[in-house]
Amino acid sequence: MDKVKIAYVGAGGRGKGLMGLLLEMEDVEIVGVSDLYEDRLEAIAKKVEDASGKRPVASTDYRRLLEIPGVEAIITPSSWTSHVQVCLDGMKAGLYVATEVGGAASVEQCWELVRTSLATGMPCMMLENCCYGREEMTILNMIKQGLFGELVHAEGGYRHDLRHEICMGRENRHYRLANYSNRNGDLYPTHDLGPIAKYLGINRGNRMLTLTSMASKSVGLNYWARTRKGEDCDLSSRVFTVGDVVVTNIKCAHGETITLFHDTSLPRPYSRANLLQGTKGIWQEDKHGVFFDKPLPNESGWIEHKWENLDDYYEQYEHPLWVQFRMDGVKGGHGGMDWLVLRAFVEAVKAKTPTPIDVFDTAAWMAITPLSEDSVNLGGAPVPIPDFTNGLWFQREPPLRGKYSLDDWDVTP
Ligand SMILES: NC(=O)c1ccc[n+]([C@@H]2O[C@H](COP(=O)([O-])OP(=O)(O)OC[C@H]3O[C@@H](n4cnc5c(N)ncnc54)[C@H](O)[C@@H]3O)[C@@H](O)[C@H]2O)c1
Repeated sequence: MDKVKIAYVGAGGRGKGLMGLLLEMEDVEIVGVSDLYEDRLEAIAKKVEDASGKRPVASTDYRRLLEIPGVEAIITPSSWTSHVQVCLDGMKAGLYVATEVGGAASVEQCWELVRTSLATGMPCMMLENCCYGREEMTILNMIKQGLFGELVHAEGGYRHDLRHEICMGRENRHYRLANYSNRNGDLYPTHDLGPIAKYLGINRGNRMLTLTSMASKSVGLNYWARTRKGEDCDLSSRVFTVGDVVVTNIKCAHGETITLFHDTSLPRPYSRANLLQGTKGIWQEDKHGVFFDKPLPNESGWIEHKWENLDDYYEQYEHPLWVQFRMDGVKGGHGGMDWLVLRAFVEAVKAKTPTPIDVFDTAAWMAITPLSEDSVNLGGAPVPIPDFTNGLWFQREPPLRGKYSLDDWDVTP
């Protein structure tokens, strides 16, 4: 079997997890690995060697991996501020590139991604796994079949108690601590925005026009540090710049609004807080519920505004990719979405086709971070969101129809 030769940059927590999945794929060969830390580099090289019997090229300088004969793609689960450079160098070397999620450091970086992809012809895909979640994909399918009518408003969030990960950043060599100490905005918008952008046809007939962001005060991390590490710990009194809750409102070209929450410094259960409203119905993820307009009142003359369980809709509306995935046996982390997003990338590399999340999506989603920082720094002022398609958004070529497409697929399994 022809194997796709992949180079891999970043061997932290996520890097180890995704690597486990890639090593299970019979049509993938990991030819090179990189991490800045020698111990992590050695551990991931050994993991590849143990699983495949072949030692990959291993280097702390990822650029060495670009020279490996036959390498076709690079996947980078590295830190937020290293993704873009790895992708740029990968595309310039003629490789398909895939980046783990996270916001950009600047809008200029996003333009560089777009220009480099267009100049080299190499696709750049953000591995936004939430676009492949079972619930998100079922909703996408229901939207496509008209259940929600004309879409009006969407919400989502990254609402995850990360106080331990952030405040243990020095011990665990994790980049979040430095980011939270220096930046203020929605630092992690894509788990929520990615699926919403596909619902609303962003970059394909629609686009995001402007945003405003407001950040609350920042006291959650100080409280955690004080109560877990003691008053003497410098983090107890450090001025963390990122607000505990950052709310971003986006206006789209066709009038839809999007609200995003970044909420990772206070105690709370995990939620992506998805909500979608259209002329015919609403979906609220935290309730696992939907409600659809009823054409006629019930016997007592009232329309009963009662949530229905989304589970009751799976039999008819589950996305065909998920129907097949469940029949084959769900694999991989985060309920299976990690496997699907990696397969979507690998299949595109093999077929030499465009990726289902393309460079315009990647750039637009990543740009929300620096734009929200600008807006917060301007006291919540509206800031324009660039059109990374340069006018193509309303006259794009049709999307590639296919199993992993998030824009065009067969609605029936
Ligand atoms: N999609 C998901 O569900 C999900 C889950 C967790 C993390 N992530 C994403 O995965 C990425 C990594 O997260 P993590 O928690 O594993 O972080 P981490 O800090 O544990 O690991 C990142 C690794 O990248 C390495 N690195 C950074 N710059 C590098 C460079 N220039 N060359 C080689 N190696 C480099 C670091 O040395 C580090 O070991 C982030 O983008 C994060 O947002 C995604």
